[in-house]
This record gives sequence, C-alpha cells and structure tokens, in this order.
Amino acid sequence: MENDNKQEMTMKEIIDKSLILLILLFSLISCAEKEVVTVDYQVVPLPQEIKILNEKPFVLSRTTVIAYPEENEKLKSNADFLSEYIFVTTGMKLKVKAGESGKNAIQLNTGYDHDNKEAYRMVIDENGIEIDGVNENGVFYGIQTLRKSLLPFFKGKEIEFPAGTITDYPRFSYRAALFDVGRYFYPVEFIKRFIDILALHNVNYFHWHLTEDQGWRLEIKKYPKLTEIGSIRKETLVGHLKSEPHEYDNTPHGGFYTQEEVKEIVKYAQERYITIIPEIDLPGHMLAAMAAYPELGCKGGPYEVSTKWGIHEDVLCMGKEGTYQFLEDVFTEVTELFPSEYIHIGGDECPKTRWEACPDCQSKIRELGLKDDGERTAEQKLQSYSMSVVEQFLKEKGRRIIAWEEILDGGIAENPVVMSWLKEESGADAAMKGYDVIMTPHREVYIDYYQSEDKENEPLAIGGFLPVERVYNFEPVPSVLTEEQRKHIIGTQVNLWTEYISDPDHAEYMLLPRLAAISEVQWSDSQSKDFEKFRLRLKDLFQFYDVYNYNAARHVFNY
Ligand code: ACM
Ligand code: ZN
Repeated sequence: MENDNKQEMTMKEIIDKSLILLILLFSLISCAEKEVVTVDYQVVPLPQEIKILNEKPFVLSRTTVIAYPEENEKLKSNADFLSEYIFVTTGMKLKVKAGESGKNAIQLNTGYDHDNKEAYRMVIDENGIEIDGVNENGVFYGIQTLRKSLLPFFKGKEIEFPAGTITDYPRFSYRAALFDVGRYFYPVEFIKRFIDILALHNVNYFHWHLTEDQGWRLEIKKYPKLTEIGSIRKETLVGHLKSEPHEYDNTPHGGFYTQEEVKEIVKYAQERYITIIPEIDLPGHMLAAMAAYPELGCKGGPYEVSTKWGIHEDVLCMGKEGTYQFLEDVFTEVTELFPSEYIHIGGDECPKTRWEACPDCQSKIRELGLKDDGERTAEQKLQSYSMSVVEQFLKEKGRRIIAWEEILDGGIAENPVVMSWLKEESGADAAMKGYDVIMTPHREVYIDYYQSEDKENEPLAIGGFLPVERVYNFEPVPSVLTEEQRKHIIGTQVNLWTEYISDPDHAEYMLLPRLAAISEVQWSDSQSKDFEKFRLRLKDLFQFYDVYNYNAARHVFNY
C-alpha cells in the first residue's frame, strides 16, 4: 500500500510537471507569436499631416471593437467595411457595435470641423483610435488610411499604432479614373472589382465610357435596338490599326448592362463614396447607335457596328430633328439611372465631312445663322450648338455637363466642365476663360500607353510611353494660371481606353500601379512629392494588390 501511495504521489507529480511544461510551452508559443510590428501611416496616397506623439501606443487585438453612432447607417456600413478590411489582412474579425465605444475601440464619428468636405482626422492613443470626418465620406478615407497602414504581413503579430494625430483631406475635389467599356465589354463583376480598386486609392469619381463606334453598352428602354444591334460587332481587328493589311478575328463580340445592373453598380459605387459619371459620347463615336437606328446618320445608312479602331467619319446628323429627340430620350433615361450631377456628353473626335455634304445639316446651319468666321467653321459651331442643346436639357434636370475639350472649338457652351486631353495648353486656356477644367493630358495620364520602353515584351498597346514616374510627376495646375484661375482646375484622372485591352487581367495590368501614382497627384500635397519615397510606399501597397490578386505591373521596381 505504501508503495502504491508512493506511486500515486509520483503520478500526481508527473501530471503537475506535465501541466507546468504545457503551460511553459504555450507561453513560449504565444511569446513567439507576439512579435511586435509598428504601423507607420505612410500609405498611398500620402496623408497631408502625420503627427506622432511619444506616448503609449494603441495595441490592436481580437477584442477591439469598431463603434459607430447609433442610427448612422452610413457609418455602420463604413464600420462593416473596416471590419472586413482588417479581417482580410490580419485574420481578426472585429465586432461592430452602435454607440460610444469606451476603451479598446476604433470609434467612427462625423462632425469634424474643416473647410474641406472630404476631410477627416484620426486620433490615436492607448485607448483606441477615433476617426472623425466632416462627413461620412471623410471617415471612409480615414478607414482607407487605417486599412492600408495594416500591412498584410502583420498577420499573427502584435500590432502597435503609435499615438498621434493624422489630419487629412484631398488636394482636388475631382479624383477620377475613366474606363472604356465601349471597345470591349467587361462583366458586372469586374466593374465592381474596378470600383473596389478605385476605393482603395481614394478616387471619388468613376468616368464610365459607355458608348462607342464599336459597341453601345447601356440598355435604353425606348430604343431597344441600341443593345439588340448596337452592342454586338461581328468581328474585331487583330493587331494594331497601323499594321496593314488589316486582319479580323471572325468572332462576334458583344455585351451590355441592363438598367437593373446599372442601378446595382451605381449603388455599389455609392456605398464606397464613388459617383459614377456616365459618358454618352456625341456627336461622333456614335456608329453603334447608327447601326441600330440608321436614320440618326446624315446618309441614312446602312451602317454597321465598327470592327476596327480609329476615328469614323459617320457621325450623328445634327440637321434632323429626330436626332435631337433621340438624344433627349436617351438622356432622360440616363438621368433616371445615374444620380450624378455631372453627365459626360463626349464631343471628341467628330469629323465634319458628312455635315458639310448633308442637306439637313446645311439647312440647320442656315436656320441657326451659323457662319464661318475665319476662326471657327459653321460646322464646328453646329457641333457646339448641338452640345449646348443637350447641356440646356440636362441643366433643366439639375445636371451639369462635362465634355472633351473640342466642345470649346465652336464657342457656344454655357457652363461645361472642360476635359482637357489633347493640347498641352487647352486646359490652361479654358481655365483662363473661366471654365472649370479637369486635366487629362494624354501624354501624362493615358494609361493605355506602354509602361515600358521594351515594347516587344509588353502586350500590344495603342502606343506612347507612360511609366509610373511620369504619371507621378504630373502637375495638373498649369503654372501660367493666376491664383484665381487655378481654382478652376478641379482635378485630374487617368484614362483607360480599351482598343487593345480585352480582358480584366490586362486591364488591371495597365491600371496598376499607375492609378496609385495619380492618386497621390489627386490627393496629396504637391510640396511633399518625392518619387523614391513614393516607391517605398508603393511596395507596401503592392502587398494589398497581392492579397486581392490584382494584376499589377512591376516595372517600377526593376531598377
Ligand atoms: C479621347 O481620347 N478621344 C478623348
Ligand atoms: Zn446631317
């Protein structure tokens, strides 16, 4: 018995010892897990002001909550976004709750007092983080900064946020990217992904180029043939337009967005504080519409949806009343679908040869008393007239037009926002005349251009050479402008035209990271520009591109 007792004692000792060992092992493992990483807030686009205090940091943990004011549904949605973002990069799913948070929380609020309506302030101390926006969109940008500060490689580590304050707001109120779905149709899922990418870069407008010679992509109930006929081309040019003889792929290409899909996409963008600006390009680039309704052209057709790129001589007949009715009907439905104040009505690349020979156009010119005056032709004035008719129609609906710089060629438009793309000095000229201007000079921001000089090893592109550095160094405000005139430069955007880009992977490759470069031009203070420092921040941003499987080009790291 004694022996047995002794044996029992030994068993107990063994169990105790094992327990101690186990506890030691666990604490060793958890110690090993607790490698500390420190956030530096150096994200793209770079915040305006980051002040770090020598005080205790905030430590993020699984028990941290994200709190928003009761009944603020927008901030609830923002809180849900933040929770999801943090989950994707850290694996921690933080609880979202209404009301005041107390300690260990990320508190979202509005009411921050700042002149810039998109501003936010982020205050970090040992008890948590407060993101306070003038409005909910400011909070959303604060959330993007917080999200991008939490690098994916932080997963499983102890994450410290140094105490301090970030005060941030965008330099420009107009920060956009154009995507051309006319040349190639892209599915709804990709459009949403594209919008997610814009949100990651604090972009607030998505310029959606919806109609082209090669395809009409928007369902218009009153004109069903626009999509039945106008959304499909029988084949597509293979290779570059400049390589002759032309060859075709003998494969139909098509697709369009139903009005229900458009509503869904508009809402998806709104939730991310992105306004979609639809572009219905007129009076040129309308061949797909004319293929569907040949009476819209000067010669009455027949026309076919174009199978190759370039500028087409067949344009809308602006001498026939039916064309004006068509435009009014189309824009009625467009305004019902898109709540954006800005509506883009195109105006680029409209040859006047058909109008010169068209009895209807010529009689309209006479009726309006339009004359060549040495500076402008009667046909240029007819273009301006037709665009100003659309402008007035949209104005009555409380909307404002954006148009490509050619709108000024004919002189008449009342209050358009001018999108300068062609001539270096056109944006400055327009601003001097008192127009609001969006700067999109093709040499600086056309991201369908090559990103490497080694063109042989790049996918076929339209031409040009536009590396990330060039986009980054672009200064949208022309130095010739006075302080007052500068206010007319409301922003800038990159343009992703798709003549030579037919699939989502390729589109992402052209977009990223040049979008990151323009996002700093759009958002950050130009005084803090430094390409090498930007490249370091970009390295961090690439971790996010990788997490989300965005197909970004890596030339920028190749030297
Ligand atoms: C344009 O690039 N045609 C505006
Ligand atoms: Zn005509």
